[in-house]
Amino acid sequence: MSHLSVNHLLGIKYITKQDIELILDTAKNFKEVINRPIKKVPSLRDITVANLFFENSTRTRLSFELAQKRLSADVVNFTAASSSVKKGETLIDTVNNILAMKVDMVVMRHSSAGAAEFLSKRVNAKIVNAGDGAHEHPTQALLDAFSMQERLGDLKGKKIAIIGDILHSRVALSNIFCLQKLGVQVKVCGPTTLIPKYIESLGVTVETDLRKTLEWCDVANMLRIQLERQDIKFFPSIREYTMLYGLDKKLLDSLSKKIIIMHPGPINRGVEITSDVADCSQSIILDQVENGVAVRMAVMFLLAGRQ
Ligand code: NCD
Repeated sequence: MSHLSVNHLLGIKYITKQDIELILDTAKNFKEVINRPIKKVPSLRDITVANLFFENSTRTRLSFELAQKRLSADVVNFTAASSSVKKGETLIDTVNNILAMKVDMVVMRHSSAGAAEFLSKRVNAKIVNAGDGAHEHPTQALLDAFSMQERLGDLKGKKIAIIGDILHSRVALSNIFCLQKLGVQVKVCGPTTLIPKYIESLGVTVETDLRKTLEWCDVANMLRIQLERQDIKFFPSIREYTMLYGLDKKLLDSLSKKIIIMHPGPINRGVEITSDVADCSQSIILDQVENGVAVRMAVMFLLAGRQ
């Protein structure tokens, strides 16, 4: 199979295992391309992509833009902070104005869950969700799966723990959908106030003890505490959170096996993981960033109907 079953990438929930495998296989070829002296292919030279970022981002925005440039697409960038959104323009008006300039694909990050899906039903362009509120962040889950596969091979039967602020995390939800489609056993770990009640209905197990979780897993994906989405206090203090759920080198080295450490970034060094953990040889955090470009190239290449 060399085609995706969808026209847009709105979330991992809406794609099949075959779609995931196709994207990850295609990304392998692109990883080879971006490690060549000339890191560019002409595949999307007839395509114009608009990156619409209504919410802050460093990694994801730069990663998408680099991926587009490596594919020779024309790129326009929009960030809400410096746009007419501040003058009261609606999302649909903003996007339709951009599309009137003949844009073929839109990569969008928005603080509202469902924003990408809303757009996909109303405008005539391919939509890639680069994060919608606390809902989904599909390319992050795909690059995470790609990075795990590089280390572990086939992920079927592997044990992956997602640790921290599950409640406010779109990375957690997209990872859960993606890993389950690939046959992984997923456990979430964090304070009960940061674990949504419905989570077990998604087929994951819940553990509140960090050490037990780390002893169980092959990979620990440490999430950032999303303070900007927390309107009430979910735990007494950052210090207490770190004492119970922070990973330091002492704890990591005391485990009975060597596990892989991941983090989607941005890291709060000293909160969810200490600097020596982030920078140690078990951490694949920078591989995740490198692989993000290859995976996003694959997603846009396939959505554009190339094979
Ligand atoms: C994540 C995000 O924005 O959803 N970061 C990212 O895209 N690399 C996670 C986060 O902000 O903690």
